Amino acid sequence: MKIIVTGSQGQLGKEILKQLDISRYDITAVGKSELNIAVLDDVVSMFRAIKPDVVINCAAYTNVDACETDFDTAFKVNAIGPRNLAIASGEVNAKIVHISTDYVFDGKGVLKDGSIRPYVEYDIAHPETAYGKTKLEGENFVKLFNNRHFIIRTAWLYGEGKNFVRTMLELSQKNGVYLKVVNDQRGTPTSTEELAGMIRYLIDTDNYGLFHGTCEGQCTWYEFTREIFRIKGITTEVIPCTTQEYPRPAPRPAYSVLENYMLKLTSNYMFRDWREALEIYLRKLS
Ligand SMILES: NC(=O)c1ccc[n+]([C@@H]2O[C@H](COP(=O)([O-])OP(=O)(O)OC[C@H]3O[C@@H](n4cnc5c(N)ncnc54)[C@H](OP(=O)(O)O)[C@@H]3O)[C@@H](O)[C@H]2O)c1
Repeated sequence: MKIIVTGSQGQLGKEILKQLDISRYDITAVGKSELNIAVLDDVVSMFRAIKPDVVINCAAYTNVDACETDFDTAFKVNAIGPRNLAIASGEVNAKIVHISTDYVFDGKGVLKDGSIRPYVEYDIAHPETAYGKTKLEGENFVKLFNNRHFIIRTAWLYGEGKNFVRTMLELSQKNGVYLKVVNDQRGTPTSTEELAGMIRYLIDTDNYGLFHGTCEGQCTWYEFTREIFRIKGITTEVIPCTTQEYPRPAPRPAYSVLENYMLKLTSNYMFRDWREALEIYLRKLS
């Protein structure tokens, strides 16, 4: 089976390459310099030449704040890029795995009475950020141009590369005594290792559709940081603060917990609890 992995130098791209069994798959891994997914002709000619069975799109413009000021680039990479990949993969009859985000929701709660429960796949998306809007358009294009799609919304991703866990570890070394961390945004930290496991499962199936794919459980960024430091035995004090104290160009969803509803109804694949996945990640890091 031939697989093309795009965005192969990113966090998820690197993990996918680690996990795919090279004795089973003929893998073409392309970073941005080998394939700019925003250029339709390049994508189409590469797919015509390779004729993949599966494409796994790990490429994205993931700087949420930068997307606000550079909407055109965000739209090119997060919407037109997946469109191109869906057109090209559809033409050669390949399956497509595309990764999306919890930011397609505004994080204000989902029930009419204002109460909150985890978002499921059939909840109406309503992005508030440029990143979320462009990622949602990417989902729509993939659905439109290739029926054989697996669209996976994930959240709070960490792996090999720049991410929240590494930033907190670095800050604890620099700042030492205490760190203030936001305690009024709730979501689910998800390791690339867990997410890549889901992708490995899906590509061997015809279980197409839109999926949520995050670790089990939920926490705030403050609770996440406390757990990172607890596991690592770091004594830096973590002080809870509010989003208002740290205004950012792009508004963050206050509540973006996702339920892996489709995955649970259609498979036996289970994500680990976020704490367990974090512990595995930190053990490997040291
Ligand atoms: N990180 C998170 O917390 C998070 C949360 C929810 C969902 N997601 C989604 O999960 C997926 C994987 O995220 P990640 O954390 O692995 O992202 P990442 O580490 O930022 O990797 C994205 C990769 O895409 C590349 N890229 C950017 N523009 C490109 C283009 N035009 N053509 C080809 N490649 C391009 C980037 O290259 P350069 O670095 O050279 O630009 C980078 O190597 C993305 O779809 C993201 O939206 C991430």
